[in-house]
Amino acid sequence: MGPDGRPALLVVSAGIMQIPALKTARALGCYVIASDRNPEAAGFDLANERLVMDVKDVEGHVRWARENKERVNLRGAFAGADVAITVAAVCAAAGLPGIPVEVAERSNHKGKMKRRWLRDGVPTPWSEETATLAEARCVLAHVALPAMVKAVDSAASRGSRMIRSEDELPAAFAAACAVSRSGTALVEQRVAGREYSVETIIWKGKHHHVSLADRHFGFSPYAIEIAHVDPSHDNDKRQRRIYEVVDAAAESLGIDFGPAKADMIWTDRGPMILEMPARLSGGFHSQHTTPLSTGKEPIKAVMKLALGEPLDQSLLAARWQRTSICAGIFPPPGVLLAITGVDEASRLPGIAEIIITRKPGETIEPYVDNAKRCCWVIAVADDEPHAWEQIDEARRTIRFEVAHAPIACSQLHGPLDRTAQGSRR
Ligand SMILES: Nc1ncnc2c1ncn2[C@@H]1O[C@H](COP(=O)(O)OP(=O)(O)O)[C@@H](O)[C@H]1O
Ligand SMILES: [Mg+2]
Repeated sequence: MGPDGRPALLVVSAGIMQIPALKTARALGCYVIASDRNPEAAGFDLANERLVMDVKDVEGHVRWARENKERVNLRGAFAGADVAITVAAVCAAAGLPGIPVEVAERSNHKGKMKRRWLRDGVPTPWSEETATLAEARCVLAHVALPAMVKAVDSAASRGSRMIRSEDELPAAFAAACAVSRSGTALVEQRVAGREYSVETIIWKGKHHHVSLADRHFGFSPYAIEIAHVDPSHDNDKRQRRIYEVVDAAAESLGIDFGPAKADMIWTDRGPMILEMPARLSGGFHSQHTTPLSTGKEPIKAVMKLALGEPLDQSLLAARWQRTSICAGIFPPPGVLLAITGVDEASRLPGIAEIIITRKPGETIEPYVDNAKRCCWVIAVADDEPHAWEQIDEARRTIRFEVAHAPIACSQLHGPLDRTAQGSRR
């Protein structure tokens, strides 16, 4: 038993997005250890023990697990953020249920995952990993413009963008390499179409499909998620085709246990997969919109697996059918002076959560990746049009007063009226 008699669960990452997971771990009766490099991480208050450590520090986590496993009676590890490798390595070192480290590495490295899929015939845009600008130019010659240049092992769109001409390659290549641990970048065929986020949990050879949400993007040439709608109301046939590709993609990577989250796009040649980390989704999808729209509890289901229990299918059964939307509010970049209307908006019908991550005095940076977002509104209603109405009402009510920094308009990278003022697509 843990120091206070409970089984211990390590939750890797304690940021604001991990608060629902930390609450769930507590609700399961665990002694909760949370790790995060930020000693002020918002989730630390919910942990019994804090481990101040970079969530990508695999060695550090393994060392901690070896040294503390007996003391806390560590029973499982859970990926709060994009940290499948850290979790797999802890599980391997401590003899806990998890996926092999090499599978986690494949799921966390776009170069490795794409090579597998291209080898196995899983539909995905063609791409090559490149280490030098000369190589990137060479690959670009085989890819039609516009193309994607992407970091290989980052998340939240960091270091990824579309390029429309070869002139844009050097800057895009440098930005992608700068946030890739390997210092490399992917040059990738760009495909167009409706996007989805798909969540699945794999247990004893079976894929348990948890959620399929629509994703809306803005701020081109960057890919910023401006909203997701959970569940998607796309037709069943399309959803089945998407799930078939998701299942094949997980099998190709060797993910045979626990969660996998797929970014999917429906192209004129059918569904294609963009990436698949071996974890549950971030972005308040597994945390809020799926539980709100269906009553499913994917985090609890995955934590119980991590603790060595069998899959509790009752946690993945829909208990009701509503629609939940998580939409961003995008104040213009600059120094934030004041935020008003939040209390009023939170009392609006159907508004389930308002999450704001900047305080007055802090700076709102241009929206070049998803980590720059600072305000999310989550609504739930009986159907999608009503959920949008609630989102739009909240967007009208919450006001950000910003002192505009001397930022050129071209740096805003997106039609602010599409996002700040409340339209969604
Ligand atoms: N090949 C592509 N074609 C079109 N859009 C893409 C492509 N690759 C990425 N994107 C866009 O960029 C977003 C982020 O890319 P993704 O591969 O999912 O990386 P990340 O790990 O940063 O989420 C996608 O959700 C999509 O909107
Ligand atoms: Mg993605």
